[in-house]
Amino acid sequence: MQVVTSVAAMQRLAKKWQRAGTKIGLVPTMGYLHAGHLSLVQRARKLVGKRGKVVVSIYVNPTQFGPKEDLSRYPRDLKRDLRLLRGEGTDVVFVPRDEEMYPGRTKPAREDARPTSRGFSTYVVEEELSRSMEGASRPGHFRGVATVVAKLFNIALPDVAVFGAKDFQQAAVIKRMTRDLNFPITIDIAPTFRETDGLAMSSRNKYLEGDLRRQGIVLWRAIQCAQALVKKSPVPAKKLKAELKKLIESEPAPKLDYVEFFDPETLQPVEKVTRGTQMALAVFVGKARLIDNARL
Ligand code: PAJ
Repeated sequence: MQVVTSVAAMQRLAKKWQRAGTKIGLVPTMGYLHAGHLSLVQRARKLVGKRGKVVVSIYVNPTQFGPKEDLSRYPRDLKRDLRLLRGEGTDVVFVPRDEEMYPGRTKPAREDARPTSRGFSTYVVEEELSRSMEGASRPGHFRGVATVVAKLFNIALPDVAVFGAKDFQQAAVIKRMTRDLNFPITIDIAPTFRETDGLAMSSRNKYLEGDLRRQGIVLWRAIQCAQALVKKSPVPAKKLKAELKKLIESEPAPKLDYVEFFDPETLQPVEKVTRGTQMALAVFVGKARLIDNARL
């Protein structure tokens, strides 16, 4: 397994593979890997075959964090990540530095930035699917995600890139960007990996200390509650939202950010929740902001 930190070296490798007709699979991550991430790596391996190359990127992308978010305390453990990836037969781990990904970026981009400043100044903005939910709660988040993923596509030149259904809206935005910008890349979406009690695996679960870990399962309980209700008959979204908010906030720590019911393709909200409706929610639990989703 090779660890590559320079953009030019990664591009050189990818171009060499491309010329040889070797299939490339990319798994973008922010590190602090868990079994959910590793399931994506296994899928990438299956998709490119024994002779293909699997590239995993580890990069805590600063442009997708808001100014008051957890960028500086986001958990990191590169040594452990590399050990886990070695066990999965990863070919290359791409670990770029901020100075190479965003050279001379001014943050926030200043209105009066001089055209001669020569810093990083080009972003990718998806304008439809990014507006609601995570996009509404975290302004600029999907601009950062789309930008870094487009950069990773241009650096690792993958034939296929694997993302998790855990971040449902992110997967939708990336699929749309790939189509709209004509990236010749297949986007593969892997199912959500959960702990045995239903908590979706996430690097941010590290923030759940003591009893907060137990309270973190309210997201899964809310999903199961919605599943059970909708199985019987359609339910008005407004009523279901109120009910789930009560359920979630019946524990001391959890505070609901949003729960939405929508069409899984267009992400347009529905008034009546039925089987097949997509549900997504975000909940603050202590210092952690957790998200989860499911098709009902
Ligand atoms: P990160 O949160 O590290 O997640 C990396 C990938 O793993 C994403 O595609 C995410 O959906 C997937 N993933 C996370 N938890 C999962 C779980 N429990 N089951 C299955 N898949 C899971 O998402 C990001 O990083 C970043 O936004 C990134 C796409 C790398 C861009 O910076």
